[in-house]
Amino acid sequence: MNVAVIGSGGREHAICFQLQRSKEIKKLFCIPGNAGTKTICENIDIDYLNFDLLYSFLQENNVNTVIVGPEIPLVAGIVDFLSEKNIYAFGPSKKASQLEGSKAFMKKLCKDFNIPTAKYEEFDNFEKAKSFIEENQHPLVIKSDGLAAGKGVTISSSIEESLKCAKEILDGKFKSSKKFIIEEFLEGEEASYFIITDGDHYIPIGTAQDHKRIGEGDTGPNTGGMGAYSPSLIIDENIEKKIQTKIIEPTLKGLNKIGCKFTGILYAGLMISNGEPKLIEYNIRFGDPECQVLMMRLKTDLLTLVNAVKKNKIHEMNIIWNEKPCITVVAAAKGYPDKYNTLTEIKNIEKIKTNDHEQLFHAGTILKDNKILANGGRVLNATCLGKTLEEAKNKANAMLDAIDWQDMYYRKDIGWRAFKKN
Ligand code: AMP
Ligand code: GLY
Repeated sequence: MNVAVIGSGGREHAICFQLQRSKEIKKLFCIPGNAGTKTICENIDIDYLNFDLLYSFLQENNVNTVIVGPEIPLVAGIVDFLSEKNIYAFGPSKKASQLEGSKAFMKKLCKDFNIPTAKYEEFDNFEKAKSFIEENQHPLVIKSDGLAAGKGVTISSSIEESLKCAKEILDGKFKSSKKFIIEEFLEGEEASYFIITDGDHYIPIGTAQDHKRIGEGDTGPNTGGMGAYSPSLIIDENIEKKIQTKIIEPTLKGLNKIGCKFTGILYAGLMISNGEPKLIEYNIRFGDPECQVLMMRLKTDLLTLVNAVKKNKIHEMNIIWNEKPCITVVAAAKGYPDKYNTLTEIKNIEKIKTNDHEQLFHAGTILKDNKILANGGRVLNATCLGKTLEEAKNKANAMLDAIDWQDMYYRKDIGWRAFKKN
């Protein structure tokens, strides 16, 4: 079987790393991939949002299964398009992708099916938003309705900041939508919970803790994620049961009821406080960098799970995990998430020793004239299993220290909340 993975980040490198062990795969492509995926599969440099072009390639190369990494092609309807052409694409339909593509859609689903989440109101008008902002206590959380590459959420501590933020969204700061929601600020600790579902059944596919802020001690602006570890230490059996019965199951049932059956990976971003989980957001795909730690720990062949979804039999699967904890530390270009340089050279990568327990996933890299160049904000992910989380972290940090890249920044404290607990 020939398989193609869509995307070019660390998440997709990790997915390819997992899939390359599959005995069922004859040829593995990554579209477009990066300098890391190039070492384990064939990169194909085409614009995957040009669905016709993508289809021509898939057809000519007998690709019959496509695994979609990022949310943008899913929200744009890649799964519907390929399914009509008889190519199996793993991921949700365009309609079901609204769960991530529209905060208003996701919040309404929560309201209609009684799923615990922050209280909210939806707005498309300044005067109404102004009254709401003036009448409610801060902090308030203001979220652009549509996709915003992790930049659509503002936690505002003053009326002035909230009004400014509302005005910017209404003036078209985000191309995807001029609507927004304002919701209550939730206290607690965040965790990521993943399931794989065929729409009728589901099984859990791991837990993780992301680190969204750029600075050590979780300070500074939000990023796409500066590091993660798995499993999450705050999701115990009792909390997991609540996540399943109060959040996941009503979501899948609710989506079926409104004609939006969801298949693929569903990622619940949760806030946990006093043993009670509340939904912050849904993503319709693996998290990045959470996927990197999940793929290192996943012993079951990912393709077998994908095929079980295809056959509507995911509940018959039993996932086997490496019991060791895993951590990934993201190396970013200095200045990220604001302005940063690109096309800086990264040296010494070839000297990094990698194996099934230690991987250096590439996120934003390209290969040019035999040199590895950084070409994104988040660039490398040192991902290590360890006997303990602390050992895993030390290995990951040491891996990054061995790389010669003048422009590198990474957080040395990934996992700090877990270490504080021990
Ligand atoms: P989202 O894109 O909705 O996941 O939001 C990005 C980040 O903003 C989350 O990971 C949280 O750290 C924070 N956040 C979002 N909504 C809330 C909320 N209602 N209360 C507290 N923090 C939030
Ligand atoms: N790490 C957060 C995300 O993938 O959305």
